[in-house]
Parts: sequence; C-alpha cells; structure tokens
Amino acid sequence: MRRGDPLDIAAHAATQGLAPADRAFAIAIVSETLRWMVDIDALIDGATEQVLPDDVKSRAVLRLALAQLLVLRTPPHAVVATALPLVAGGPRRLVHALLSRAQQEEWSLPESANLPEAVAERWAAQWGDDIVAAAAAAWSAPPPIDLSFASEPGEGEWAEAAKLAPLHRRLPRGQAVEAMPGFREGGWWVQDLAASLPARLLGEGKGRTLLDLCAAPGGKTMQLAAAGWDVVAVDASARRLARLSDNLARTGLSAAVVQGDIRTWAPDAPVDAILLDAPCSATGIFRRHPDVLHRIEPRQIEEMAALQADLLVRASGWLQPGGTLIYATCSLERAEGEDQIAAFLDRNPGWTVDRVEAGELPAGIAPDGDGFVRTLPGFLTEAGGLDGFFVARLRAPSG
Ligand SMILES: C[S@@+](CC[C@H](N)C(=O)[O-])C[C@H]1O[C@@H](n2cnc3c(N)ncnc32)[C@H](O)[C@@H]1O
Repeated sequence: MRRGDPLDIAAHAATQGLAPADRAFAIAIVSETLRWMVDIDALIDGATEQVLPDDVKSRAVLRLALAQLLVLRTPPHAVVATALPLVAGGPRRLVHALLSRAQQEEWSLPESANLPEAVAERWAAQWGDDIVAAAAAAWSAPPPIDLSFASEPGEGEWAEAAKLAPLHRRLPRGQAVEAMPGFREGGWWVQDLAASLPARLLGEGKGRTLLDLCAAPGGKTMQLAAAGWDVVAVDASARRLARLSDNLARTGLSAAVVQGDIRTWAPDAPVDAILLDAPCSATGIFRRHPDVLHRIEPRQIEEMAALQADLLVRASGWLQPGGTLIYATCSLERAEGEDQIAAFLDRNPGWTVDRVEAGELPAGIAPDGDGFVRTLPGFLTEAGGLDGFFVARLRAPSG
C-alpha cells in the first residue's frame, strides 16, 4: 500500500517459494483485510486511547489479525501466535491486548463492508446513494467465477453452472480454476460477464480484419478469434503479451501478436473494426481486486483519462470508412467512460454512436439512454453481480 503497487503484482513477488495452499491463504488474508479495512480500522480506533497512525506496523498487524478472526474465522490461537512475532520488540502488548478484547467482547463486522469514504463520496456524486450501497454489498464477498467459451458447451456439460448469456457459464466462487474440467484442453477461459460485452457487440467476424488494441492478457482476443475475426492483438507490455500468447496456445485460437505502444505504433493498413480496451483506473473490478479502491486517487483517474483520449485519437485514424470502433473501460468513473466519449464526439463531428440495442445484451443488462452500455454495482445481484464497465460502439465517417 505504501508503494501503491497493485495487489496481484505485490502478491506475486511476496509469495514466491510458498506452497500453493500457503500462497492462497496469504492472498486471502490480504484480500479480506483490504475488503474490510474501513470497518476493521473503526474497531481498532474504537479500542485505542490514542489513534494509531495509518502506516504503523501495529495497525497493519492488527488489520491482518482481525481479518483472520472476524472474516476468515481462523482459529484464534493461530491468529495470535502468528501476529505477535510480527511486532516482537515493538508494541506486542498493545496488539495482544486488542486481540484478547476482540475475542472477549465478540467484536463483529457490519453486514456490508464500507467503501473508503472518498470513493463513497465520488460514486454518490456520479451514480447516487443506492449504487454506493450496492457497491458496498458487492464488495463484501469475493464474486463468482465466470467462464467464456470458444464454442457452446454440450447439453449436460457444466450442468451445475448458471448460463447468463451464450458462450457463458457462472460458477460459485472458491474453485481452483486449473483443476476445473477442460482447463488443459482450453475450451474456456475466466472472464467476468461484463468484460465479455465489448467483444459480443462486434458480432461475427467472417474473416474481416480487427485490431485488438491493449489486448493483453487476451480475454477479448480469444472471444474475437473464436467469433471468426482476423485479429491483430497489440499491447505495450511484453510480460502481459506472454500471457496472451500462452492463452492463445492453450485455447488453440489464433491472432497475430504485436508488441507496440499505441501512442507511437501504427498498423500498415486500415481495418474493418477496432476494439480499444483502454488502460484505466480499474475501479469497476473492485470486487476481484479489493486493493483498487484504496489505491486509486482522483489524480490517477485524470491521468488515465488523458491517456485514453490520446489512444482514442490514434485508434480512430486506423479504420476503413464506416468502420466500427468499440471503446471499453473497466472503470466506474464517468471521466473514463461517458465523458471521454462525449469529448471525442465533440471534437470529431463525422463520428456517430452505433447505439447498442437491448436484444444484443444478456437478460438483465440494458443500454443507457445514449445507446452505451454502463454496468453498475447492483446489476444482476440475484445471480451474483457484475463488474462495472463502460462500452461505447462508434462508427467512423463513411468517407
Ligand atoms: C484493460 S487491460 C487490457 C485487457 C485485455 N483487453 C483483455 O481483455 O484481456 C489494458 C492493457 O493496456 C495496455 N497498455 C497500456 N498503455 C498502452 C499503450 N500506450 N499502448 C499499448 N498498450 C497499452 C496494458 O499493458 C494492458 O495490458
């Protein structure tokens, strides 16, 4: 948190050499600590005479220990025995006293994990109080696992899963993905239903050319290749492209893979369609990445929005007349969605919105009044919820 690193990157570095079960447990402790941190801090602050500074070790150790006691239900003796050595030579008595009180007084957490205050305020201003409440409820537990398929599974396969759209199945959370049937054969990949919407809105490719910009690790590349597009997948990150290539190899799908920074790279010839899955704050995927809402500041949203505007201008020059451009972000900030597209359309008068129709979307998801897709916390709650996404489908001037 001090360095501002994303959890998955920090966890990868910090858990090298651990056995798989220990690694999974370490990541679960940190994830639940981040998810419940506002409420855990309220408990800590209610029990200490002097407020502990935010970044002292004792607060960090107490957060981790209380997440184990109150969320993961780790046996108390194990929590205390692993917490105290972390503050050896320091505030050991304070930590011990608070953990004893937590047990004696049977501390508990509220039903929904509160969002960090700045996020709650920002989202209340953008989406209203009901969406903030829905986000808090959605944040309180890890989400289910969505799979996307290259072709529709046979009758009777995945019978225990919910089907919320074609080529989609939803499974209860907590399963080991690598151990699921068919992982090695590669007929499916993990992808939230919301993340699958941008590629769905391009339909069948029938061999037409498509640039998948900001493509790695390739969830959308695989959908598009499976839908018959002739795909060139471009991304700036060699490390992430290696994962994209692994994913293509595992699924047996094909796309040309190019390492390039969209700000300087350009294709040789114009294409029929473009998917720009722009880098963003990622505040829409807070259920899966509980670090995001603690980490992202308004300044980063502004910086991302400026980068998205650059990428959008670059991409818009690479289409055939009348071609289709899909712009998508996994963000719950209007600056990275609605406002971005409004500014682009203002500056590029020949471009139009190719409105998304309700019939193109899975049941329970409707286009907004402008013909865009905006998924919000509270969508499909009964079925397990949905990540926050924004998708716009634009049409280039016809020449
Ligand atoms: C939202 S992720 C893409 C997810 C991917 N489309 C998928 O479905 O799996 C954004 C990607 O943009 C890439 N990126 C960021 N800035 C870039 C740039 N200037 N040029 C090319 N790629 C960039 C990042 O490396 C990252 O992989």
